[in-house]
Amino acid sequence: MSGAMPVFDTFELPGNDLVPYSIDYPCNWLQVAENPMDPFHSVFLHTRVTRAHFNPAWGALPVVDWHKMENEAGIYLTNTRRWGEYVWARTAEVIMPNFAQPPDIYQDPDREKFFPRVGISKWTVPTDNTSCKIIGWRHFNDTLDLGGKGDRSKVGLDKIDFMGQTGSERSYEEGQHVPGDDEAQIGQGPITIHAGEMLGRTDTGVAILRRMLRHGRPCRAMPKDAFRPWPATSSCDARSRTPTTSPYSERSAGASARSSRRPGRCLMANARPRSSGGCVPRSASG
Ligand SMILES: [Fe+2]
Repeated sequence: MSGAMPVFDTFELPGNDLVPYSIDYPCNWLQVAENPMDPFHSVFLHTRVTRAHFNPAWGALPVVDWHKMENEAGIYLTNTRRWGEYVWARTAEVIMPNFAQPPDIYQDPDREKFFPRVGISKWTVPTDNTSCKIIGWRHFNDTLDLGGKGDRSKVGLDKIDFMGQTGSERSYEEGQHVPGDDEAQIGQGPITIHAGEMLGRTDTGVAILRRMLRHGRPCRAMPKDAFRPWPATSSCDARSRTPTTSPYSERSAGASARSSRRPGRCLMANARPRSSGGCVPRSASG
């Protein structure tokens, strides 16, 4: 890898504070690094199974498509769901081999909002085969967290300001009753045995990530012209008004999510189409 530290636009946004943090995990790095490419765990782990960790809107099934960046620099996903009178569109990205920028965790689809930027920039770093750590920044600014739910005093060494991310914030029993990412990742064991898994369509992003790591070029520096959704040179989030449907209805959620492809696409494409491939999601991910 190039010796130069990559500097993304998200590191230099005006009025944006970057609060550093790190969290240790007693498991293989890959099962932690896969998390951002699996947005469906937000529906079940973070919402339906354990009640709403963040807000109930996370429980609506989204339409998700995963996209390889040009030159296989990484993957970004587009994630669109309908909630109340809004279409909620999010993107997230992983740059090979271990850098990720998910959108902000405390976004609520309760108002129109366009292009709030990332919530976290992070590297998942192996310590050895069965331990790793996340090193990253939590983002804070006046436009990101309108609900005031973020708390920078809770971001630092082995801590971050949303639940279920460390093994030290709660008792073992509490973690088992209301599991979060920490329990899901560590609960897979020291090293996940892939041969015993049955990946489904919702695991498409995980499968693409593994394939790119296995066969791709994970140790090259990110090419300067790597394609990424425009203007979202990193993850973003947007909501626009749209006719209502009933939340938590499997049928309506699926149908409305499918119908939300166009609004979700337009939110990004209208900003500035960059190429014929643009940020148009594929009709089916593979
Ligand atoms: Fe999560």
